[in-house]
Amino acid sequence: MGGYGHAATMEAGWMGKPVTGRARLVAGLAAVAGLMFGLDIGVISGALSLIAQEFEATQLQQEWIVASMMLGASAGVLIAARLSFVWGRKRTLVIGAMLFVAGAVFCALSGSVGTLIVARIVMGLAIGISTFTAPLYISEIADARHRGAMVSVYQLMITIGILLAFVSDALFSYFDAWRWMLGVVAFPGVVYLIGAAFLPASPRWLMMMGRRDAARRALLELRGQAGGVARELAEIDAQLRGQTRGWALFRDNPNFRRSVLLGIMLQCIQQFTGMNVVMYYAPRIFGLAGFAEHARLWGTASVGVVNMLATFLAIGLVDRWGRRPMLVCGLLVMSAGMALLGAMIRMGPDPGGQQAMAVGVLLCFVAGFAFSAGPLVWVLCSEIQPLQGRDFGLACSTTTNWIANMIVGSTFLTLLDRLGQGQTFWLYAGLNALFVVLVLLFVPETKGLSLERIEHELMAGRRLRDIGRERVPGGVGPA
Ligand code: BGC
Repeated sequence: MGGYGHAATMEAGWMGKPVTGRARLVAGLAAVAGLMFGLDIGVISGALSLIAQEFEATQLQQEWIVASMMLGASAGVLIAARLSFVWGRKRTLVIGAMLFVAGAVFCALSGSVGTLIVARIVMGLAIGISTFTAPLYISEIADARHRGAMVSVYQLMITIGILLAFVSDALFSYFDAWRWMLGVVAFPGVVYLIGAAFLPASPRWLMMMGRRDAARRALLELRGQAGGVARELAEIDAQLRGQTRGWALFRDNPNFRRSVLLGIMLQCIQQFTGMNVVMYYAPRIFGLAGFAEHARLWGTASVGVVNMLATFLAIGLVDRWGRRPMLVCGLLVMSAGMALLGAMIRMGPDPGGQQAMAVGVLLCFVAGFAFSAGPLVWVLCSEIQPLQGRDFGLACSTTTNWIANMIVGSTFLTLLDRLGQGQTFWLYAGLNALFVVLVLLFVPETKGLSLERIEHELMAGRRLRDIGRERVPGGVGPA
């Protein structure tokens, strides 16, 4: 998923203005873009076994049917980083939305594994483009008062999208209708396309292109009041003057390199928790635990419910507990969950108490992710990038998210086969335990800190995990 935490990072200081219809449209776009992301993540899990039966797909082919979307998404992020600069955010969003609809229809009509993989790559391109561009656009359009809410809406909508996909899969499974499972995504895609077509161009992009008058008009349309528009234009001017190109900054500035690498590390952590193993292969995991066909898909739907509900927990607690404790707690829960699941699967299916326990453990794992690494990695990724290099930093971390996602999605079945079923879950248990250490060593606590302070301390070379901590008087250590 794209860098939606991005939306939290633009402190343009345009407070207290009324929300215009256009601004509502932008909030709606945030919601639909999140929903599309979630639907696409969720939809394959229920369809996979039916597809495998119809095409007699090998294990490797199944893995690639899953992972091809992430391959497309990684490429989509990179394409969007360029297109959204050259053609503008809005046009890039429209292209992404068109690809969504085309990809979904193409998936539904696929006649072979090969065409399905190509169709999933098209879907992936759409999702990569949208997960990069939508948050970027939103951050440039939303006023400061509503940005935080939009981040949360976006995150929540991803989990709602996943849940809807799981439920729709469960319903269509009674008709063995995998084509409908994949094709139904075209409908929200059309809504997204229509919404994107009516969006105003981003004022910040217009300013980057030197089109000041058009930027003023776009802002007026969005804010509905002339008073603050001049101030906001001046702020954009000031921001653009301070901007260095990302690669040059990365090459020349070791402190910026740290924030880029931290973003990459955080996204690797998020993906290698193994959450998407559950997202893509939950029915298979329920199968390993001894569940019958339809029960597997309803079990998967319960995973979607817990994923969504636990996200509320994160939204409620993140600014009170802080990022580090929540991440550590979530990772510990995930590590324990994977370890227990591995143990149960090794003991073999036993219809009865153990099955219920396997479900409980899986749900704990999912909750652990949804209240920690799921939302917080995105929030942190946006908070730690200095303004001058934000687009570059986010393109790096978001691409990493998709590449790591692809690795996880394309290796699970092989791991089950080669490493063994229980051991595969233990591998993820071990990784989650390792991530606890990495978080303690490298992740700063950004709760309650202004973005300026984070940036100041980061660029002054302060040790990452000390950022935001009060200095001990007379204390030494990296400044
Ligand atoms: C992750 C996705 C994951 C989703 C699950 C997102 O934060 O980036 O990879 O599928 O959470 O809710």
